[in-house]
Parts: sequence; C-alpha cells; structure tokens
Amino acid sequence: MSAAMTTDVTAGLARLLDERYSCRAFLPGEVPEVTLRHVLALAQRTASWCNTQPWGVHLLSGEATTALADRLTAHVPTRPPVADLPLPAGYSGVYDARRKESGFALYASLGIERGDREARGAQAMLNYRFFGAPHVAIVTTDREQGTYGAIDCGGYVATLLLAAQAAGVAAVPQAAIAMASDAVREHLALPEDRLVVCAVALGLADPDHPANAFRTTRADVDEVVTFVR
Ligand SMILES: Cc1cc2nc3c(=O)[nH]c(=O)nc-3n(C[C@H](O)[C@H](O)[C@H](O)COP(=O)(O)O)c2cc1C
Repeated sequence: MSAAMTTDVTAGLARLLDERYSCRAFLPGEVPEVTLRHVLALAQRTASWCNTQPWGVHLLSGEATTALADRLTAHVPTRPPVADLPLPAGYSGVYDARRKESGFALYASLGIERGDREARGAQAMLNYRFFGAPHVAIVTTDREQGTYGAIDCGGYVATLLLAAQAAGVAAVPQAAIAMASDAVREHLALPEDRLVVCAVALGLADPDHPANAFRTTRADVDEVVTFVR
C-alpha cells in the first residue's frame, strides 16, 4: 500500500471515529434492509478469540421493536434488575469523574438540572423505547465462551457502530437493556446458553434534538498508555 493510500485510509477512519457519537433521539423512518444487511456484513469482520465469533444478533424492526419497547417499559419499573453478565462493582476515582462528566453533558444539553431525579429517571427510561429508533440489535454471547466471548462481543459492537456510521446510520449501544435480561430472554425465547450483552439501537438521527447536540471527551493517550522499551 502506498503512503498516500495509507493517509487516505487513516484520514477516513479518523473521520468516522470523530463523527460517530451515541445517538439518543431518532427519526421514525426506517433504514432500508439492504443498508442494514451491509452494516451487519461489515461487522462480521470483527476479530475474535480463535475466530469463534461468539456474538449472536436479533435485529428487530418496526412492530417487533415497538413490542419489545412496550414489554421493557412495563417490566423495568416494577422488577429488580437482572443482568446475565457481572456489572461493574463500582465507579471510583477517574471512572466516577468520567461517568459524571458524560452524564452531566447529556443533562445540560437537555436542560435537566443535576438534582432533578425525576427528569433524569424519565430520560433513563427512554432507553427502553430505544430513543425512538425503528431498529434494535440485541447482541448476545455464548455462555461457554466466558469473559473473552463477552470481549469479542464488545469488539463486534464497536465495529457495528463504525460500520453504521460509515453507512450514515446513527446508533447507540445500550447496556440498559441487559439490566432486564430476564424480560429480553423471555420475549425473544433465547436459549439458556445465550447471554444478553447489550442492545444497539439503529436508525436515522434527529439532527435537531438536544440529546444529540453534545459530544463526549476522551483521556489523552499518555493517561492510558504506558510506553515500555
Ligand atoms: C457497552 C456499552 C453500553 C452502553 N450503554 C448505554 C446505555 O444503556 N444507555 C445510553 O444512553 N448509552 C449507553 N452507552 C453509550 C455510552 O454512554 C457512550 O458510548 C459514551 O458516553 C461515549 O460517548 P459516545 O458514544 O457519544 O462517544 C453504552 C456504551 C457502551 C460501549
């Protein structure tokens, strides 16, 4: 590959990475199935442990999306959270700071006061309507593949997000859906060997919605990488 081509490829990738963001307000219009299939085919290129490709996807569209949203919206406020994968044990130090910064950026964009628990709760519940997206991919892993299987699924989600962005499809990964894995399991008749990892809502972004008007920050490379010689 020539140096010029390398520059083009990295510039294209940098643009994709810069422009992708978690979309939390979608327009109702569906994405053509041919586009969704193309995005899903690109995501299949994800690397995995021994190429096991442990991810599985239920891609819901239209009424199927609405039916799951109705189910989760009724289920979540009345039942304790049930997650198939272990949840973070806590958020100390820098993790707490980063989590709060991104949360407050969302609330500020939406005009929600930090202390307004009711408005924050209502915003959180929009997860279960997939923020109005017409499509949602429910990503599952294989129980037997353990932690590295879940890591592979994380890689799959990252590729899916970039592939969607490249195709002009907005997306948001949603672990919120994995907190109701019992309802998701029953609704989709998932077998016991499949574990709910997260959802990825997909659709067309509402460009004028304030939920889509902020961007998150990232730590500098030197904060996370230890260069060793
Ligand atoms: C595995 C995973 C789960 C996530 N779960 C949720 C979620 O349930 N709800 C939500 O609004 N955003 C969720 N997000 C989006 C993150 O908040 C978002 O990626 C992060 O704040 C960085 O912002 P950006 O995606 O706009 O760059 C999730 C992201 C990942 C990778």
